[in-house]
Amino acid sequence: MTLCGWLTHKRSSGRIRFLILRDGSGLIQATLIKGEISDEAFNTYSELTQESSLTVTGTVRKDKRAPGGFEMQVSNLEVFHIAEDYPISPKEHGVGFLMDHRHLWLRSSRQHAILRIRHAVISQACRFFDDQGFTLLDAPILTPTSCEGTTTLFETDYFGDTKAFLSQSGQLYMEAGAMAFGKVYCYGPTFRAEKSKTRRHLTEFWMIEPEVAFADLQTIMDMAEALIVAVVDEVLKTRQPELELLGRDITKLEKIQSPFPVITYDEALQILEDAGHSVPWGEDFGGADETIISNQFERPVLIHRYPSEVKAFYMKHDPHRPEVALCLDVLAPEGCGEIVGGGQREDDATALRNKIDKAGLSAESFDWYLDLRRYGSVPHAGFGMGIERTVGWICGIEHVREAIPFPRLLDRLYP
Ligand code: 4AD
Ligand code: MG
Repeated sequence: MTLCGWLTHKRSSGRIRFLILRDGSGLIQATLIKGEISDEAFNTYSELTQESSLTVTGTVRKDKRAPGGFEMQVSNLEVFHIAEDYPISPKEHGVGFLMDHRHLWLRSSRQHAILRIRHAVISQACRFFDDQGFTLLDAPILTPTSCEGTTTLFETDYFGDTKAFLSQSGQLYMEAGAMAFGKVYCYGPTFRAEKSKTRRHLTEFWMIEPEVAFADLQTIMDMAEALIVAVVDEVLKTRQPELELLGRDITKLEKIQSPFPVITYDEALQILEDAGHSVPWGEDFGGADETIISNQFERPVLIHRYPSEVKAFYMKHDPHRPEVALCLDVLAPEGCGEIVGGGQREDDATALRNKIDKAGLSAESFDWYLDLRRYGSVPHAGFGMGIERTVGWICGIEHVREAIPFPRLLDRLYP
């Protein structure tokens, strides 16, 4: 076989020299035995530095003791490039240093495992909707208005006389899509200019957002639960080695089965009060509150019917209790915070127009959105699942910055 890869480390014991190679899919131990390979190739060993790139040819056989479970006895070796002194060594580095070298840090086994799990999460989430007849509809990134509050908008100049904003969510466009295709979803980057430094916040994150016509809150609560179960199940099926490498407690993920606990906002307040951490009715939960609530459960908890005041303008109110919105948040276990937010949308043109005014938004720029309520309005609902928080939870990592290849944070735009 011939393999191309990079040297992660090497060691020598007398007449045998070991190269541990990484090719992007895994590790393999390549052995150079004096006399079984040309002297020139054998002596190349001493030149090879960490991350040097090379190609090796030889015979592969199983070896339980070798990293990766296989060993190659090398008959020929060629070097592409002898790497300069590699900045990331096996010794401990601070996170700031590693983030400055994110472009190289991606090569390390831990980051590799997290991002392989991320891929499984994304592909399973898309498959989940594809299998149910959803149409994938890409939402625009440059938008004329806000969707999730004006305080977290990234603003750009759009050819001088207009402002454009980076999308906070594809939802409004998915609502148009649902009226055209019935069931749609988008998957893409979303932006929040949040001056927030918590371990759950990114300024650029990726979201999958389904939207369904002729659907109510219950429909999408069931859908969010089924999606989370499917995603965790896929990771357990296809990413065991990665989970093990991360030292993840797999028994905790195996418990992620239906049914999930379902509570109202009011019941969540009671949980907080019982924990000696009262929150007055009408206030939103902070990160610490969410952790207390989610710690009561081993599975993600669905919380519905928050006060309308703390939720976005597009939420429909509960006709039986107008002060609460027909909305849903899903909190992941183990203090990982909100992974899903969504709900049933206001489908009455007059009520929606009032909500737009009340939120201080310009009705003019939402005229197209109001059209959806003028021409065959129907009950409809949807949600958004944040990829990085979901991946962070599944991987059992502290901070969402490791759950995305190149994180964008309040204080990080490089590399
Ligand atoms: O709750 P959010 O703001 O909901 C929406 O944007 C809706 N328009 C979605 C919809 O109904 N189609 O965001 C949804 C999810 C959150 O639950 C969280 O997982 C993630 O997106 N999220 C963030 N992830 C990382 N960093 C941030 N700053 C995030 N803000 C939201
Ligand atoms: Mg939310």
